[in-house]
Amino acid sequence: MSSLVGVGTLTDASGKSSSLIEREASSGEGSSEVSPLISRPRRLRRTAGLRRMVQETCLTVKDLIYPVFVMEGDNRREAIASMPDCHRYSLDLLLAEVTEAYELGIGAIALFPLIPAEQKDNAGTESYNPDGLAPRAVRAIKQTLPNLVVITDVALAPYSTEGHDGIVQDGQILNDETVAVLVKQALCQAEAGADMVAPSDMMDGRVGAIRRALDAAGWINVGILAYSAKYASAYYGPFRDALDSAPKFGDKKTYQMDPANGQEALKEVALDVAEGADMVMVKPALAYMDVIHRVKQQTALPVAAYNVSGEYAMIKAAAQQGWVDEQKIVLETLTGLKRAGADLILTYFAKAVAHWLQ
Ligand code: PBG
Repeated sequence: MSSLVGVGTLTDASGKSSSLIEREASSGEGSSEVSPLISRPRRLRRTAGLRRMVQETCLTVKDLIYPVFVMEGDNRREAIASMPDCHRYSLDLLLAEVTEAYELGIGAIALFPLIPAEQKDNAGTESYNPDGLAPRAVRAIKQTLPNLVVITDVALAPYSTEGHDGIVQDGQILNDETVAVLVKQALCQAEAGADMVAPSDMMDGRVGAIRRALDAAGWINVGILAYSAKYASAYYGPFRDALDSAPKFGDKKTYQMDPANGQEALKEVALDVAEGADMVMVKPALAYMDVIHRVKQQTALPVAAYNVSGEYAMIKAAAQQGWVDEQKIVLETLTGLKRAGADLILTYFAKAVAHWLQ
C-alpha cells in the first residue's frame, strides 16, 4: 500500500492533500504516519502562479522572423493552396502586410520573390539585377519601415530555369561558379538596403566569399544569416509551390544535407562561423530539434530555426479538419523549438502568434 502513497494526489488550493489514495494509505497505516514521499514535483504545478514562476522557456514576439512572398504587379494578392492563410503579395500590398506585422511587434522579415518564368535562366542572372523584384521590395520596405530588419534570401532556385540552387552543367550543380553569382546577388541586396543576407543555397564556401565581397564593397555592417544546416527535406514542398521553384530534374541531395546526419551539421556550422557568419540556422525545425540543440551547444552565435512550409501546412490541414487546436499546437511547437535552443524562429505563423501573445 505504501508504494501507492501520493499516486494521483489531488491537492486543493489550501495546499492540503485531498487524495483518496493517500487518505486510505494513511488511515490504513495510522493517520499520524508521515508520508515517505519527500519530493513532490507536482507542488510547483499546483497553481497557475506557481507554474508561471518556474516556467523555463518563454516564447515572445521578439523571437519571430516572418517569411513573406512578393510578386510583380499592383494590388494583387494570391492564395497559396498548400499554405492556407499565406499569400503572395504585389509590392504595394506587401507593404501593408509587413506594416501590420511590424505593428504587432514583429521585428524582422525574410523576403522571398516569385520570379516570372521569362526572367529565369540557368545562371540566375536576374538574381543580381539591381532593379529586380527583390531589391525593389527591399528599398520600398526600408523606406516605409526603416526599423524593420529585412533579411534577404541568397539562392538561385527562385531565378533558375532548372529550379536548382546552383548553375547546372551536364546534370551536375557547379559549386564555385554558383558562389560567384551568389556574391553578386548578396551585393545587390546589400546595395538595396538589406540588413542581413541569408544564403540558403548550401554551396561550399559561400559564406566566406559573400563576407569578403561585402567588406570589400564597404558593406561591413551587413550581416550574414547562414542556412548552415539545411537538409534535403520533403518539408519544403509547399514553399516550392509558392515560388514555383521545384527542381526540374533530380533532387537537392548533392548540396542539401542528408536528414540522417547530425554530426555533419556541426561541421557545416563550424565552417560558416569560421567564414564569418553572424547567425546560423537549422532548417527544417521540427524533425531536427536534436540538431538545433547540438548546434546551440557548439556556437555562441544566435541560432535560428526555420519552421518551414511543410510544418506549417501539416498543422493548418489538421486544424482545418478540427483534429488539433491550432493556437495551442503552434505555441507548443514553437516553444519546443525555443527550448531545444533556437534563439530565433522563422515561421509563417508569426502574425498569428503575435496576436495570440498580445
Ligand atoms: C530555396 C529555399 C527553400 C526554402 C527556403 N529557401 C526551398 C528549397 O531549398 O528547395 C524552403 C522554405 C520552406 O519550405 O518554408 N533556396
